[in-house]
Amino acid sequence: MDISLKGKVALVTGASRGIGRAIALEMAKSGADVVLASRKAADLEKVADEIKALGRKALPVTAHIGRTEDIANLVAKAKEEFGRINILVNNAATNPTMESAIDIGERAWDSIMNLNLKGLFFLSQAVARVMKEHGGGVIINISSIAGVTPDILPIYSVSKAGVNMATKVMAQQWAVYGIRVNTLSPGQTRTQFSQALWGNPDIYKVIMDRTPLKRIAEPEDMAQAAVFLASDKSGFITGQNLIVDGGMTI
Ligand SMILES: NC(=O)c1ccc[n+]([C@@H]2O[C@H](COP(=O)([O-])OP(=O)(O)OC[C@H]3O[C@@H](n4cnc5c(N)ncnc54)[C@H](OP(=O)(O)O)[C@@H]3O)[C@@H](O)[C@H]2O)c1
Repeated sequence: MDISLKGKVALVTGASRGIGRAIALEMAKSGADVVLASRKAADLEKVADEIKALGRKALPVTAHIGRTEDIANLVAKAKEEFGRINILVNNAATNPTMESAIDIGERAWDSIMNLNLKGLFFLSQAVARVMKEHGGGVIINISSIAGVTPDILPIYSVSKAGVNMATKVMAQQWAVYGIRVNTLSPGQTRTQFSQALWGNPDIYKVIMDRTPLKRIAEPEDMAQAAVFLASDKSGFITGQNLIVDGGMTI
């Protein structure tokens, strides 16, 4: 498919590494200018340089997506630089603990829910208000197969199930503004976030036993799916969950 995002402005959270970085680069390769958000300026600058080397514009903005004031500043900076936002990728997420559901505490609950669900919702709302002024846009929420079947990260799984429903709510209520909203659910992907899982030989074997395509994903697998969901080629798809897991959830 010849997919073009030429003339579009994409805002990607958690864009400094892993899946977010790959999505930002793939969108730039497809013609988009990109607003890059995460907490550490130096890491964002490196990705911004990679995007500029592709001939596209990049605006790095430091933001903690769990903080409302940072969300407001991020959207204001994007609007000031580009005047619009056509694509939002809610990719930043956290899981600070491997504790089981019997042990895990309130602090971990708050930290996970604050970023993975509350931040995702209120950034989407702020960006949807901008998209509404410009005839619409596309929102992609990065969830996880852990949001469909529970795994060893209990509150993370609950947060991602919430993301899946947030997608449906947004898709239903914001279609009237020309906004499409979909979920992209990665399976095990080679990033820092999940290295404790795929880097452990015993867990890696379990993953391989359960994955028909017999490999873990690369961040680029998610990036290509995200570009499809961001493009007009998926123009009649909204409220859906695209699972990219090599068949693991079959
Ligand atoms: N890797 C997997 O196997 C896998 C599987 C299923 C789903 N996912 C999902 O895919 C997405 C990306 O994961 P990843 O594996 O690429 O993770 P990663 O390599 O750990 O990258 C996470 C990104 O989010 C940023 N970030 C973390 N906390 C933030 C905050 N409070 N505010 C703003 N940015 C923040 C990080 O930068 P800073 O630390 O500098 O802020 C970084 O850019 C997440 O939604 C994750 O749940 C991943």
